[in-house]
Amino acid sequence: MVSRVIPVDPFDLVIFGGTGDLARRKILPGLFRRFCSGQMPAEARIIGAARSDLDADGYRTMVADAIAEFGGKTLAECGQLPAFLEALDYVMIDARGDQGWAELKTKIRANVITAYYFSVGPGLFGDIAKRLNSWDIADADSRIVVEKPFGRDLASAKELNASLAAEFDETQIYRIDHYLGKETVQNLMAIRFGNLLFEPLWNAQYIDHIQISVAESVGVGGRGAYYDKSGAMRDMVQNHLMQLLCLIAMEPPSKFDPDAVRDEKLKVIRALQPVAPHEMVRGQYGPDGDDPSYREDAGDARSFTESYVALKTQIANWRWSGVPFYLRTGKRLKARTSEIAVVFKELPHSIFEESGDQTQNVLAIQLQPNEGITLDVTIKEPGPGGMRLAHVPLDMTFAETLGDDAEEAPDAYERLIMDVIRGNQTLFMRGDEVEAAWAWTDPIIESWVDRHDVPKVYEPGSTGPEDALALLHRDGRKWRDLAP
Ligand code: BG6
Repeated sequence: MVSRVIPVDPFDLVIFGGTGDLARRKILPGLFRRFCSGQMPAEARIIGAARSDLDADGYRTMVADAIAEFGGKTLAECGQLPAFLEALDYVMIDARGDQGWAELKTKIRANVITAYYFSVGPGLFGDIAKRLNSWDIADADSRIVVEKPFGRDLASAKELNASLAAEFDETQIYRIDHYLGKETVQNLMAIRFGNLLFEPLWNAQYIDHIQISVAESVGVGGRGAYYDKSGAMRDMVQNHLMQLLCLIAMEPPSKFDPDAVRDEKLKVIRALQPVAPHEMVRGQYGPDGDDPSYREDAGDARSFTESYVALKTQIANWRWSGVPFYLRTGKRLKARTSEIAVVFKELPHSIFEESGDQTQNVLAIQLQPNEGITLDVTIKEPGPGGMRLAHVPLDMTFAETLGDDAEEAPDAYERLIMDVIRGNQTLFMRGDEVEAAWAWTDPIIESWVDRHDVPKVYEPGSTGPEDALALLHRDGRKWRDLAP
């Protein structure tokens, strides 16, 4: 397949928190990858803005180190690092004070696209937005990019939205959920809306249930202090799993355009049913030999925060009436694997009565690590022996089917940053979407607090707490294997 790289227009991108972890791991290596592929034009400028006492050369050294550490093999071989570093600049800035803002203003050029990436805690979003305007740095075409967590409940998300709306129009605000930048997540839309095959079956008449699993094998590690105030529900379900659910469940938008897509996603979130206490399970990973337990990682021997959550929810509309959506996510599980499985109903009548068990068709969309799609189908087992049936996957693992193009699959962040420059908000969350997601999440978390719910301890390397198995068993179903 031919790759078609269209350079974006020249831009000035300011990264607040430009020395931070996310900038070093994802944003800067991602930009460099787009520079190597020819998508970031030579006239583009990236300006790190942070509290660290650095000059432009010091920043370039830091970025070169970050790319060496996190950039991977392809980047190491790109050979254009000196030219990329030339595009970098740095301003030492105080987000809550006056220092650095006048200098930043002198560095922003007229007649190029300007984007401001808030790679900082949400507590600073309002301060930075305000100063960008009071120092007359941003204009009506500037874009601002904000990271999760976008609040910790509905009230705080509303406050954040209000503080940004006071300074910028919604069309200028890009709320990142990096799951929307993942290759297979976008493929989900291509599969649903680019093929005739699936859409007629995509409803309660043919689909038995849907499973969304995002499993990680690592623990919370050094992020324990942050994570303990959040937990799996806020950290993963309210945003990433919710976005996956929206893409699976939404009605076909009239076109692939930001508001058409986001309107449909919003309708799904608003139609989500509340989750009853017996329809959710929380867990915490225990110790594993010398490896610390969740509570040790969190630094709180009495922490009640969940590192695992599984739940069952339903969508109250015609398409999905009666179809359960089972969601689960957790850390320190058996494998790092993320999958959406659409499990179809059993045949209304089998003509092959003698031929043993019957399975259901399953469309499995594997997000990571091996991006691809399989469709489990029933065929006749080849050779003699009568009409014996076999269940086999029609496999479209992208690395095999698409060859080199799939191996070069871009990181979620780089694609999303290019979309910011292109001014395309389709893969970003709108303010009302985020608020609706919190409106569904809040009562779940409140019910845990009210009931003093204690997470079940699960064994690291397992599939999570036993109770999560029962969540499906009682409905006569079972979770799919967490295979890597
Ligand atoms: C982040 C969460 O948003 O997503 C992390 O804060 C989580 O806790 C991460 O580990 C998972 O992202 P990915 O792309 O590795 O699946």
